[in-house]
Amino acid sequence: MDKNELIKLATDARKLSYSPYSNFKVGAAVLCKNGEVFVGSNVENAAYGLCMCAERNALYNAMMHGMKKDDFVMFAVIADTDAPCSPCGSCRQVLDELYPAEAPIYMANLKGDVKETNNKELLPFSFGKDDLE
Ligand code: THU
Repeated sequence: MDKNELIKLATDARKLSYSPYSNFKVGAAVLCKNGEVFVGSNVENAAYGLCMCAERNALYNAMMHGMKKDDFVMFAVIADTDAPCSPCGSCRQVLDELYPAEAPIYMANLKGDVKETNNKELLPFSFGKDDLE
């Protein structure tokens, strides 16, 4: 599977977004070494603080199917943004914990713009598991 196919799956997942408050739909997809893909969209709540982002839902979906950090090889996120959609700070922290440091993260938008990044770029000097040891 290439990045464009993964972005397409994230785009499909975006259509499942439950976002009646922001009307901002986001989709994400994570590819695993065995070829499986797990997707997520953002899911909002009338108690706004409970809204969950697409990126975290995709990662948690994968974990609930037995996947672990080392199983992940590619990640994509897409929204109808001017520039390729960038993960929020909370998602960066969760990506840092669950997704490999130098594996590609493709940020995309509906116009077809794609930017490749990774956790090291998105969250330099991150606080993580090693800091607690
Ligand atoms: N959102 C995401 O799903 N991912 C991001 O990276 C940015 C924000 C969602 C959260 C909320 O449902 C809506 O977009 C507006 O912030």
